[in-house]
Amino acid sequence: MKFFLDTADIEEIERGLEWGMVDGVTTNPSLIAKQGKPYLPTVQAIAEMVPGPVSGEVLATEYDGIMEQGHRLAGLAENVVVKVPLSPAGLRAVRDLAADGIRSNVTLCFSAAQALLAAKAGAAFISPFVGRVDDVGGSGMEIIEQIVAIYANYHFETEVLVASVRHPLHVVQASLIGAHVATIPFSTLEKLYHHPLTDVGLERFLSDWQKTGKTFDEKAG
Ligand code: G3P
Repeated sequence: MKFFLDTADIEEIERGLEWGMVDGVTTNPSLIAKQGKPYLPTVQAIAEMVPGPVSGEVLATEYDGIMEQGHRLAGLAENVVVKVPLSPAGLRAVRDLAADGIRSNVTLCFSAAQALLAAKAGAAFISPFVGRVDDVGGSGMEIIEQIVAIYANYHFETEVLVASVRHPLHVVQASLIGAHVATIPFSTLEKLYHHPLTDVGLERFLSDWQKTGKTFDEKAG
């Protein structure tokens, strides 16, 4: 499974890259707004530091504006993927951007029916928001299961990119289902490493050896 970082925070991306666990990045207008920096230069700066796909979202909602902004985002760097909200105008643009060789990530997906439309339009990625579905009492993972099954039935090339991830269990469930990508906040990436028994176990190993009074380098005899 690929891990994308769901952030526009340069420091978080640098740390994730250092850990060797970042295969890409997804941004959205809220995440960029949080950084208080200009829109396109932020997407470009992230695209220049990350080897994998970097999603930058259009702000336009009608076809002509989505096409115009899509081309400008794609022109920032080769690894920029154009993030397009799911709508009739959005999916029409996804199809025409694909015809121009531009990859898109269809965002704000909340149902298998929406994801089927996005795959038929030729999207490179579909982003179902599992956390927001859970927030309203639905099952985000049930939708992921349906989408993965539908895409397999018709051999769609669209990758399932699980978004609005809130905790490590979302990542585990998504990988058990066979989703291609999970885009995760940095705080969730950190938690994936953590288990209290790992900490206790390491402490015990080190204190047991320390009690011997010997060093790592001690020679035999
Ligand atoms: O990319 C979508 C994601 O950022 C939304 O996450 O936690 O606001 O539902 P959240």
